[in-house]
Amino acid sequence: MTREKPKNLWLSRWGFILAATGSAVGLGNIWKFPYITGEYGGGAFVLMYLACILAIGIPVMMTEIALGRRGRGSPIDAIGRVVKENNGNPLWKAVGGMAMLAGFMILCFYVVVAGWAFAYTWKMLDGSLAATSVDALGQVFGEHNANPWQLGGWSVLVALLTLWIVAKGVQQGIERAVRWMMPGLALMLLVLVGYAFTSGSFGAGFDFLFSFDASKITGEALLAALGHAFFTLSLASGAILTYGSYIPDGQSITRTTFMVAFADTAVALLAGLAIFPIIFANGMSPSAGPGLIFMSLPLAFQQMPFGTLFGVLFFAMVSIAALTSAISMIEATVAYLNEKHGISRLKAAMGAGAVLLIISLLAMLSFNLLAGWTPGGQNFFDWLDYLTSRWMMPLGGIFLVLLAGYALRGEIMRDELNLPPLGYALWLFMVRYVCPVLITMVFLHALGWLGFDPIAKWYWIAGAIGALAVLGEVLRPRVVSALVDR
Ligand code: PFF
Repeated sequence: MTREKPKNLWLSRWGFILAATGSAVGLGNIWKFPYITGEYGGGAFVLMYLACILAIGIPVMMTEIALGRRGRGSPIDAIGRVVKENNGNPLWKAVGGMAMLAGFMILCFYVVVAGWAFAYTWKMLDGSLAATSVDALGQVFGEHNANPWQLGGWSVLVALLTLWIVAKGVQQGIERAVRWMMPGLALMLLVLVGYAFTSGSFGAGFDFLFSFDASKITGEALLAALGHAFFTLSLASGAILTYGSYIPDGQSITRTTFMVAFADTAVALLAGLAIFPIIFANGMSPSAGPGLIFMSLPLAFQQMPFGTLFGVLFFAMVSIAALTSAISMIEATVAYLNEKHGISRLKAAMGAGAVLLIISLLAMLSFNLLAGWTPGGQNFFDWLDYLTSRWMMPLGGIFLVLLAGYALRGEIMRDELNLPPLGYALWLFMVRYVCPVLITMVFLHALGWLGFDPIAKWYWIAGAIGALAVLGEVLRPRVVSALVDR
């Protein structure tokens, strides 16, 4: 069967690495990682997070990139082609559809948080954050959100910037944007870490992130770590698969994946090293929750030398990080409309953008006019977050590894991944046994259906993975050959 010719390719080897790192590095790293690390108690959480990145994040990312490159297209089309090459069931395309939808739904609430970052860059400059207590800054944040025009205006600005970049195409839009934004972001982050090092309580921040307390390892924290690993690496949401479909043949998927995962983790840890020393130097609590960077941090900056300057730099960095992630969330949809229905990228971006604006409007209004509308106990914004991170991403992750590990003929993935035998065996072991078992456990635990804490029973889980692997590798070939022989 002839392979599909790619319509779009990255201009350079760095194209994918920068774009995928841009997708991965976002509010998840700079806003969410520090505050959940704060909530779950520092070093122990960081360790679980690293374990999830290695055991699940990396194998799933390799799988997505390989599927994207093999099928050359949006998640639905790429998976459709790969499954067709394998003479498999076209229903697998639904996994691509769900991923694409997840990316789109994430964007609908992500523009609101990204809008906060853009607004705070401005507010840092114009003096509206010159309050003298965290409470007063909480009030500023509350007032910002209570005003639908203000909140909505900034969110719409983010949405329009995102659509504009995506409409311009893979090379001229996305690659061009990330080529200057990503180095800029790295530079800003290093300057901020240097600032925290010289002006903050660096030792206290460092200890908080890296000192380990075994009692903090709990199923709850593992759940958060796994969910975050998916989110921060942009997995099961169409972004990485679609970007992967633009990688030229011959570029190493494994090396590329490790580079992106390393860069993403480094940014999360460095963001922690930029934020916590400043929080501690001002005697604030590291576990301030989602308001950590919007309430505690602005106050901390104000109390420090050149704080305004560095505060502006900080929020500008968050804004750039958010924008490069936002473009990846809608690329899958635009690519799909463009390929499948022959609509130009501009029209596709406009159409998708219209739907985006309508749905994200409901997310914006969740903070003011629709705050009282809480079907099922949470507002619309929280619903989007809940559905994507608790259901769609873990389910998408499970189906992706099942597809790659079981449903496809071995040589398809082996060709794409092009690994030495031991590396391939390791990847296969991860996607066949470790990822499905762990994701399922954590998923059931999240729904409250597991009935026990997966951490407390970790040896059972490790045993189950081992037993399954032995059974699967020894028995399955016999069962399959027995069936085929007949
Ligand atoms: N990885 C992004 C972050 O950490 O902020 C979030 C994200 C981007 C999720 C793209 C999903 C996605 F498709």
